[in-house]
Amino acid sequence: MHKLVESINKLKKAKNAIILAHCYQPVEIDLVADFVGDSLALSQQAAKTDAEIIIFAGVFFMAQTAKILSPDKKVLLPQIDAGCEMADMITYKQLLDFKAKHPNIPTVCYVNSTAEVKSECDMCCTSSNAIKIVKSMNAPKVLFLPDTYLGKWVEKQLGNVEVITYPGYCPTHAMINAEDIENVRKKYPNALVLAHPECHNTVTDLADYVGSTTGIMNFVKCSDNKEFVIATEQGVTDRLKRDYPDKIFIPIKENLICPNMKMTSLEDIYNVLENETNEITVDEEIAQKAVKCIDRMLEA
Ligand code: 13P
Ligand code: SF4
Repeated sequence: MHKLVESINKLKKAKNAIILAHCYQPVEIDLVADFVGDSLALSQQAAKTDAEIIIFAGVFFMAQTAKILSPDKKVLLPQIDAGCEMADMITYKQLLDFKAKHPNIPTVCYVNSTAEVKSECDMCCTSSNAIKIVKSMNAPKVLFLPDTYLGKWVEKQLGNVEVITYPGYCPTHAMINAEDIENVRKKYPNALVLAHPECHNTVTDLADYVGSTTGIMNFVKCSDNKEFVIATEQGVTDRLKRDYPDKIFIPIKENLICPNMKMTSLEDIYNVLENETNEITVDEEIAQKAVKCIDRMLEA
């Protein structure tokens, strides 16, 4: 592995490339990543980098967002089939039907959506800024898609906005249920439960903290507690165990993984970097509309 890491790092330098990695990626990807973070931080990095090539160690919508934000850069996805099941739950046509059913209401899309979908929405958001973005719409009602649980969680936090949600969800987070939380509370009474807002609302209702992947990691960093139950994808638990060996991290479920996020290997990264394959392209007209939706988020 050491040799492969060395070769990737050499190639990266020679080609003026940057590797951005989501924190659900296999943990060894961090050995070559220039930046590891949540969806918001990764899009901010993609927008400001002056590298010529961006390798996106993540899933399709993330690489597509990077391409929309940096159209002049070459964006490569190590595994071209790494999609997001939630993003695929709403097509362009389904979005138009949803909007037609609820006319004249501003539309917020979660970044986990296709470029076509983003091109027809007013504003984009990620799990770390969803509350702020929905609030910034200054509207009594907002359409939110595709994640119904994130949308309903935001509605609850704000209290004065009706959030009408599309029935999409993340199959990985949907595996966690309220009973799991009740069970760990009994077994680990001193642990704090940290959950991602893609979880069922019955789960986030019971958590001590709800936040994005980076939010969860920052919570641990600032907390004096010793034990934590992690209610999100395994990648976050793996990184916390690596970074805080003196603390105890209990995954809410064993093998809670996003199969798409786990497709990437160091070999894949080496191959796409060496051969410059799996390049992401976005139709120009769609990109021009979608970028407005993403830029509004980054400016907010
Ligand atoms: P964040 O990185 O924004 O927490 O999102 C999690 C996710 O599911 C990415 O696909
Ligand atoms: Fe999509 Fe869920 Fe995987 Fe995130 S964890 S990429 S929302 S399927």
